[in-house]
Amino acid sequence: MSNSQDNHRLFHRHVAQTSPNPLGLEIVKAEGLFLVDRNGKEYLDLIGGISVCNTGHRHPRVVQAIKDQADRYLHLLVYGELIQSPQVEYATLLAAHLPPSLDSIYFTNSGAEATEGAMKLAKRVTGRPEIVAFNKSYHGSTQGALSVMGDEYWRNAFRPLLPGIRHVDYNTPEALDAITTQTACVIAETVQAERGVFAPDRDWLKELRRRCDATGTLLVLDEIQTGFGRTGTLWGFQQYNVLPDILLLGKALGGGLPMGAFIAGRQHMWTLTGDPVLGHITTFGGHPLSCAAGLASLQVLLGSGWIEEVTRKEALFRRLLVHPAIRTVRSSGLLIAVEFDDFDQNKRVIDACITAGLLTDWYLFAPQCLRIAPPLSITEEQIQKACNILLSSIPFFP
Ligand SMILES: Cc1ncc(COP(=O)(O)O)c(C=O)c1O
Repeated sequence: MSNSQDNHRLFHRHVAQTSPNPLGLEIVKAEGLFLVDRNGKEYLDLIGGISVCNTGHRHPRVVQAIKDQADRYLHLLVYGELIQSPQVEYATLLAAHLPPSLDSIYFTNSGAEATEGAMKLAKRVTGRPEIVAFNKSYHGSTQGALSVMGDEYWRNAFRPLLPGIRHVDYNTPEALDAITTQTACVIAETVQAERGVFAPDRDWLKELRRRCDATGTLLVLDEIQTGFGRTGTLWGFQQYNVLPDILLLGKALGGGLPMGAFIAGRQHMWTLTGDPVLGHITTFGGHPLSCAAGLASLQVLLGSGWIEEVTRKEALFRRLLVHPAIRTVRSSGLLIAVEFDDFDQNKRVIDACITAGLLTDWYLFAPQCLRIAPPLSITEEQIQKACNILLSSIPFFP
């Protein structure tokens, strides 16, 4: 095995980077709530791989399902041709926990690809050219998903992007006016995560649904970050009494392996099968290992009682996270943003947390907010410990 310094150097030399200053910790093992680095130091994981590890790292049932599937087969053929039991079983279980209008699941490799698929599907179903998206929303980093991303700083660097996209302010009545009979779909996060956890008013989301119905526009809800119990119900939209026409899933969907999905009614999804035939295809989408892992993880989640505990754990975080330097705490279940004055303050807290063995980071469109999105299996003692470390990592008073 290469030594730690070698790996550090080779990581920077040969692994393409996304920022000039990656965390650069070398993790050798992860289990439950904890990561362990090469020196044996433990980190309590407050961000769960960014809303991925809802059932914790390497849940034994997930690991066993992956091993069992690896003993049977890996990749066989492109998505959609062969009957692969992990795919069928997972799609069936998901459909059983979704409204009947969302009964057809198209598995992809990532969240961004789910976004891409949904945009294509909406255009195909409606025959319309336009898409309405929201400022401060994140739906992925590919060209199409970037085109609907709600931040000009990131969009502008990569123009030209997709035409026909209108960005409007989330949770405002004016936004609804942008939806017309030319709009194929509106794409919205049920709770805007990367804005620093911004939940919409219930009435507004209902109005959004009504406006879509009135104009024949499809409503796409992105639950890539809010799905799988994160907000206190299996799906975030359950708390708003609003049903999407297309649902986007990702992150926790794969139980720790890569996977996304766009989900719609079969009559809509069927339009992707003809004229052109094979109009949306993928080699690895719905990979049997990912489906086996995701299926096991969802079974664990449904049988664990963790979703029912989310609201109580959220309340405990909120009760403990009181400090003169904390401006506000916004939360939707175990998706929590702790807001400081600015990025510099937040970054100092984050760095001190990591040094003290608590892994956290910030939100893309809210760099002044510290991210809390732990595995839902986090215990009350672990919440106490995390909050103690966090509060004692705040090195300043206003
Ligand atoms: C709400 C939301 N949508 C889409 C995506 C994109 O998912 P992926 O990174 O798997 O492409 C993310 C990723 O952070 C997300 O948070």
